[in-house]
Amino acid sequence: MQVNEVPFLNIFDPHFRIDSDDVRAARAASWYARTPLGYSALRYEDVLVLLRDPRLHQGSAAMLKLRGVKDGPLVGWWDKALLNMDGADHTRLRRLVAKAFTPPAIERLRPYFKATAERLIDAFAASGHCEFMTAFSDRYPLEGICELLGIPVEKRDGFCGWASDLGLIFSPLVADPQVRARIETSLLALSDCVKDVLAERRREPKDDLITALLQAEEDGDRLSEEELHTNVVGLVFAGNDTTRNQLGLGLLAFTRFPEQWALLAERPDLAPRAVDEIMRKFPTISGIPRIATEAFEHRGVRFKAGTVFGLMLGSANVDEAVFGEAPFDITVERPAAQMTFGGGIHRCLGMWLARAEMQEALVTLAQRLDRIELDGAPSWLPGQGIVGPTALPLRFGARAV
Ligand code: HEM
Repeated sequence: MQVNEVPFLNIFDPHFRIDSDDVRAARAASWYARTPLGYSALRYEDVLVLLRDPRLHQGSAAMLKLRGVKDGPLVGWWDKALLNMDGADHTRLRRLVAKAFTPPAIERLRPYFKATAERLIDAFAASGHCEFMTAFSDRYPLEGICELLGIPVEKRDGFCGWASDLGLIFSPLVADPQVRARIETSLLALSDCVKDVLAERRREPKDDLITALLQAEEDGDRLSEEELHTNVVGLVFAGNDTTRNQLGLGLLAFTRFPEQWALLAERPDLAPRAVDEIMRKFPTISGIPRIATEAFEHRGVRFKAGTVFGLMLGSANVDEAVFGEAPFDITVERPAAQMTFGGGIHRCLGMWLARAEMQEALVTLAQRLDRIELDGAPSWLPGQGIVGPTALPLRFGARAV
């Protein structure tokens, strides 16, 4: 296929959707598409291989600069975030952070996640309706990451808005000077608060993730003060907006599949599959950027150094060649893993936390809220970066508890 015959996808069109017929047709015609920025990989096998290709580096720092944000506190922090490092620096930092961020530390918080979900639902269940994002999603993942890190309860209120503002770093909205100023104000406020908590934990260690990060060590190597600070801010940011939006998309999905909602209430053992099925069909992150550090060839096509590649997780997740025509179904074991947590060296470090939180939340919600339905039209974040509803009005019946 000549390059000019390769399908074109305008990923900057405000109406662009990863689950559109255009993307489906492009995927059927070709493993990749041209985009206004470079190229996008669309099929499962190609996304899988390219995610692991060391010649393709993380492109989120470059994307921010492409959107006109080239200096200032946001760039200073973002350039040093784990996500934006590559090579030996990334390996070292990831190892140290992963030493503290362990599955047992997450598993033991399951009762806390469930109790938090119950508490949030108590506040609105009897009314028969809610705006789900404000009533539940804004608060729930934030409580989870704060509990894990050891952020004191009285400091958490501010975190909610700050973390959501930081999530806009992936959005085209970041180019708007007012939005950028809002994000920077939130970053500085979050930063100050994290500095205080780090100082407190140095004086008085506790059984929490911040203390574990302070103590994380490998062959005498430890996180510097700046690395600690950057990564704790990074975890609050990464651990909030993604899960928050993924939950919103999940609830929206279940309004369309009421029989599956009822089934989840009866069969909590389906929670792990429900979470992965939501992430497969309705991902909050539809694609992630990569930049070629050197010229490379894939499937006989040569790409120049500096080429920008979008790895379209949301397209790979529904690739007919792997999954067939698989409609949303939480009871079916799929032939391959969904990719919304990415892959390769940057694969989501928080995926076990996100999974545990969403599993507990969905089962608790399904067992308390009967027949969820839309109670008005949702409103939406722009269709790039982290996507999801900004408002999700729901109505429901109450189940006997
Ligand atoms: C539904 C929820 C989530 C989704 C969809 C998600 C998705 C992703 C994806 C796709 C990546 C890889 C990006 C790339 O390769 O360019 C990533 C990386 C990362 N995620 Fe998540 N994430 C979620 C929740 C979380 C949570 C709860 C945390 C932690 C508190 C977290 C922390 C991180 C970190 C630190 C990285 C960077 C890892 C690295 O570069 O080595 N994420 N996430």
